[in-house]
Amino acid sequence: MLVGLDGPDDAGVYQLNAEQAIVSTVDFFPPVVDDPYTFGSIAAANAMSDVYAMGGEVLFALNLAAFPEDLDRAILTEILRGGGEKVAEAGAIVIGGHTVTDKEPKFGLAVTGLVHPAHILTKGGAQIGDLLVLTKPLGVGLITTALKREQADPAHVATAIESMSALNRHAAHLAQRFGAHACTDITGFGILGHGLEMATASNTRLRLRMGDIPLLPGARDYAEREIFPGGLSRNRDFVLPHVRFADLIDAASRAILFDPETSGGLLMALQPDQARALVAQGEIDGLSACIIGEVAAGSGIVVE
Ligand code: CO
Ligand code: CO
Ligand code: CO
Repeated sequence: MLVGLDGPDDAGVYQLNAEQAIVSTVDFFPPVVDDPYTFGSIAAANAMSDVYAMGGEVLFALNLAAFPEDLDRAILTEILRGGGEKVAEAGAIVIGGHTVTDKEPKFGLAVTGLVHPAHILTKGGAQIGDLLVLTKPLGVGLITTALKREQADPAHVATAIESMSALNRHAAHLAQRFGAHACTDITGFGILGHGLEMATASNTRLRLRMGDIPLLPGARDYAEREIFPGGLSRNRDFVLPHVRFADLIDAASRAILFDPETSGGLLMALQPDQARALVAQGEIDGLSACIIGEVAAGSGIVVE
């Protein structure tokens, strides 16, 4: 075992031989959008993301589904189709699965991937002076909550869906190519929660510049209207003792940083020239990666 429960990371890693280690992870959740196919593809992209956060490639996946007995089976078929096509896009295959009955539908994957034991990207390893790169904008929790309350602009929902459905696969390729020192993906604990995990595992402090953090269109509007997802206050309570905000960071900005993300981007720490080269390569490849701050001495997170 190379990465396990003693220092929780994005996925477990188990070494097979000198060249190969298995990356193993599982995630499933209730629908975040109405359309079953779209939900399936988001849940699959999200589940596979933890393999990419470790710098690996996905080999195969198992479907995990919970489904109410009285619901139309065609809906389950569409969820599984959305998931299966996303797994195929990742160059992998679905080789089995299991469905149980439950009051609320749920879907996700148990994912198995492969990584070279010498190239595992963990949350530890960020070095003082590194720049921080984020590969997707923030705000899907706020937008999907506005959707549930029927207050969301359809254009905002469409961009959020596009972002959640996008694989972190190429972001992981770039992380490997440009020698990321540390990497994680931004999911339920939000950028501050997952950033804090990186800061702690690396024995460093993260300094984030609010003005450089990419936001989904609409995220700030919903934050200003206090359309907060349930997990937001839990994230805030958890990270607040470890985060210092500059006075100019307003309440809406703070809420966005506490926002629980679904299938968010990769957050990585790289040597400054490598970070800039990654962002430039991302522009060529159609991946919008942004430098959002730096790694400093100390602990916790400072937002300026
Ligand atoms: Co993760
Ligand atoms: Co990682
Ligand atoms: Co690629």
